[in-house]
Amino acid sequence: MSNDKLHRSVLDALSAIMHPDAGQDVVSSGLVRDVEVGEGGVVRFSFAPGPRDPGSLAKEARRVVEGVEGVSSVKVNVQLPQAAGSASPSARPARGPAPGSVPAPTPQTGLLKNVGSIVAISSGKGGVGKSMVAANLAAAFASRGQRVGLLDADIYGPNIPLMFGQDDRPQVTGERGKEMIEPLEAHGVRLMSLGFLLDKEQPAIMRGPLISGILRQFIEQVDWGDLDIMIVDMPPGTGDAQLSLVQNIDLDGAVMVTTPQEVALGDVRRGIRMFERVNTRVLGIVENMSGLECPHCGEPVDVFGSGGGERLAEEMKLPFLGRVPLDPRVRTAGDEGVPTVLGAEDSDAAKALQDVASALLDALADDGAE
Ligand SMILES: Nc1ncnc2c1ncn2[C@@H]1O[C@H](COP(=O)(O)OP(=O)(O)OP(=O)(O)O)[C@@H](O)[C@H]1O
Ligand SMILES: [Mg+2]
Repeated sequence: MSNDKLHRSVLDALSAIMHPDAGQDVVSSGLVRDVEVGEGGVVRFSFAPGPRDPGSLAKEARRVVEGVEGVSSVKVNVQLPQAAGSASPSARPARGPAPGSVPAPTPQTGLLKNVGSIVAISSGKGGVGKSMVAANLAAAFASRGQRVGLLDADIYGPNIPLMFGQDDRPQVTGERGKEMIEPLEAHGVRLMSLGFLLDKEQPAIMRGPLISGILRQFIEQVDWGDLDIMIVDMPPGTGDAQLSLVQNIDLDGAVMVTTPQEVALGDVRRGIRMFERVNTRVLGIVENMSGLECPHCGEPVDVFGSGGGERLAEEMKLPFLGRVPLDPRVRTAGDEGVPTVLGAEDSDAAKALQDVASALLDALADDGAE
């Protein structure tokens, strides 16, 4: 089949997908752009999903194109939309659909009704940079105009509020019996931490069993509003407390963070198996603390080695989402309450984290069939 003909077939297939808000198909409404058909049936296109839906329409677009005869592979470049109704990333969006508009379908059912995607940031081992990655992904998405929620589910040492320079107590609003907890907000991200609920004097070992019972209620009673994406910062490890968290949140997938050395990789394998057991998709692996640029001579120094995360991704047939270098500014930014992508945006670490954010969107749009 000629490229032109295949190009037309691909557009025809995409035109069959209706945009839920616009009442038009995704091609006419401009969501699909730059469709290119390369040698051997390789198709690429950009997809700008609706603000409520960073994942599922793009997934459908990929699926229909994969079904077109003559297409050998599909690469979707998911572009972040400006969140509708928010002039700035930190503005509160209007609740519910605008008058007269057709309500968008809600991809999540149950717990969090108006959230496009929910992604857990996890690891096998403590201290590898989960919270750092979670905070920076949330800040990166917010800086691109997304409506972002960040749930700190670390029962052992909740520290997201600190990383966002936010240590207020959340407000409770609403009448008696219908109280809602207002999330805090910083850098355009809505934040909530289990730490607010937990008695700080209580030993960590006691907190695990408590969590499974209260988590569901806790999430339901937080007034998140509509979100494009929710990031969940998980506690370290792969035990019962983590498992019950995963089972209580309707996750779209998990990102595994690891340091490059072999001992950490073994823990990640265990973490991946935990998610497989509960049928939660692992969206990819991030290698953190991968190499250090010597501040004196500029030469790269392999502190924990590098490349282990990528090898593991290959071995487990998972996407490799990127490598974040060791950089003192990552820690100082965190300590100062400004995520690195905002506080040191020109650093290699910040650029790497922005790339991880983009790769994560690609992974969400991919239905895992490749
Ligand atoms: N790439 C990096 N460069 C420099 N410092 C880093 C980097 N990544 C993380 N850190 C620092 O390492 C420490 C641990 O990171 P973080 O708290 O994000 O890990 P964690 O996996 O969430 O830990 P825990 O398992 O305790 O929740 C923090 O002080 C953080 O600022
Ligand atoms: Mg942490």
